Amino acid sequence: MNAPADQEPTAMAKAMAAAKAEAESEGRAPAVPIVVAIDGPAGSGKSSVSRAAARALGFAYLDTGAAYRALSWDLLDRGVDASDSAAVLAAIDDFDFGIGTDPDDYWVGVGEADVTEAIREPRVTAVVSLVARVPEVREWLNDRFRGVMATTPFPGIVAEGRDITTVVAPGAPVRILLTASEEARMGRRSKELTGESAADVGQALRSRDKADSRVVDFMNAADGVLTVDSTELDFDQTVAAVVEVVTSRTSRTARTSHG
Ligand code: DC
Repeated sequence: MNAPADQEPTAMAKAMAAAKAEAESEGRAPAVPIVVAIDGPAGSGKSSVSRAAARALGFAYLDTGAAYRALSWDLLDRGVDASDSAAVLAAIDDFDFGIGTDPDDYWVGVGEADVTEAIREPRVTAVVSLVARVPEVREWLNDRFRGVMATTPFPGIVAEGRDITTVVAPGAPVRILLTASEEARMGRRSKELTGESAADVGQALRSRDKADSRVVDFMNAADGVLTVDSTELDFDQTVAAVVEVVTSRTSRTARTSHG
């Protein structure tokens, strides 16, 4: 990551923490973390943008897709058939999942295993949509996500995933749909996955969006959700756009609740 997103954090983080502390001490705001909910399709940059925005704001970062991936990894590890919804549900009680929400200390764990890298493997990506389509699995994970959001020690949390603005945190004070044209999304993904051809990447991206969109509509902004279109923006500009939405929305909220 280069300069602008790197230079801003301290001042911005201090300002957000100070504003929250002041609002709380004056009884203007409840002592709850500010939830910033971000969703969008694959390749929109939501993970890296959300994490950088969290860092800039001094907030925690919650990657909900990592939970679906970790569960998929665990099922593969235990030899559970991910296409068998009943078997997936039966296995979930033993799913011992952990995730780091400090944007500077991101990790994903299952039991004793650090699966931060392993959950990105194609064999995991290949089954994750099967796992994500089971409604009871979604509810189970959503409860945990809400718990993480409510108890974060940070002044706020940027939570990212495909149904965050609509299902997991529909009441969040800041909700953003991060989009980009299909062409831009495919271009970015094929740069990340250097070993695969653009055509393969495009096909994989389209089929994952198609499978996932049967479960949640993440392509259209719900009421009250702000769209940030990153098609014409570079990484730092996208992070800055998200941070700008958060600061303007939260100061408006503070002003409104002030009277
Ligand atoms: O964002 P990602 O690629 O790491 O997400 C992995 C999978 O999990 C993807 O198929 C979408 C799904 N997912 C979901 O259904 N709901 C979420 N809140 C997050 C991810």
